[in-house]
Amino acid sequence: MKTKVQNVFRAQFSAKSINESWARQTVSAFAAQLDPEIVELADIRTAVSEAVTNAIVHGYKNEGGTVYLTVSYTYDRVLTIAVRDKGCGIEDVRAAMQPLFTTDTTGERGGMGFTIMKSFTDKLRVTSRLGKGTLVTMTKRLSSGDR
Ligand SMILES: Nc1ncnc2c1ncn2[C@@H]1O[C@H](COP(=O)(O)OP(=O)(O)OP(=O)(O)O)[C@@H](O)[C@H]1O
Ligand SMILES: [Mg+2]
Repeated sequence: MKTKVQNVFRAQFSAKSINESWARQTVSAFAAQLDPEIVELADIRTAVSEAVTNAIVHGYKNEGGTVYLTVSYTYDRVLTIAVRDKGCGIEDVRAAMQPLFTTDTTGERGGMGFTIMKSFTDKLRVTSRLGKGTLVTMTKRLSSGDR
């Protein structure tokens, strides 16, 4: 059974690379309210960075747009991060999520973003529609907090 949401924030920002570090730090600051372990915060920052970068560089092809970010946590310390874009969408989500899969042709990207998101969180869900956009939802249960 899901426990009740204790706290939530929503933000939207321009799909520009310069905002990636802002998004990462903002989610980290919000999650810090739960007094997580340093390594948990590092995992969260990395996962957010991958999802937001994907929205900017793939979803909107570096041409700009709006990225939507919703972050919440429940009373039992489950953090949920949703990154949404209204960009090009993903043709085959299952294929895109395979390690080393990339549509990048510049050689800049390694196709490891989804793999990183998956391994640094407890659950990764990707829903996408071609021409409509992509929603990436990640959940992470934070350790007990009574240290
Ligand atoms: N928000 C998105 N919109 C459209 N396509 C996406 C989106 N996110 C991911 N993709 C597609 O899924 C592929 C795999 O994404 P993933 O993050 O795993 O690797 P990458 O971005 O190509 O490389 P890396 O993350 O290692 O720099 C991308 O190459 C792209 O084709
Ligand atoms: Mg990526």
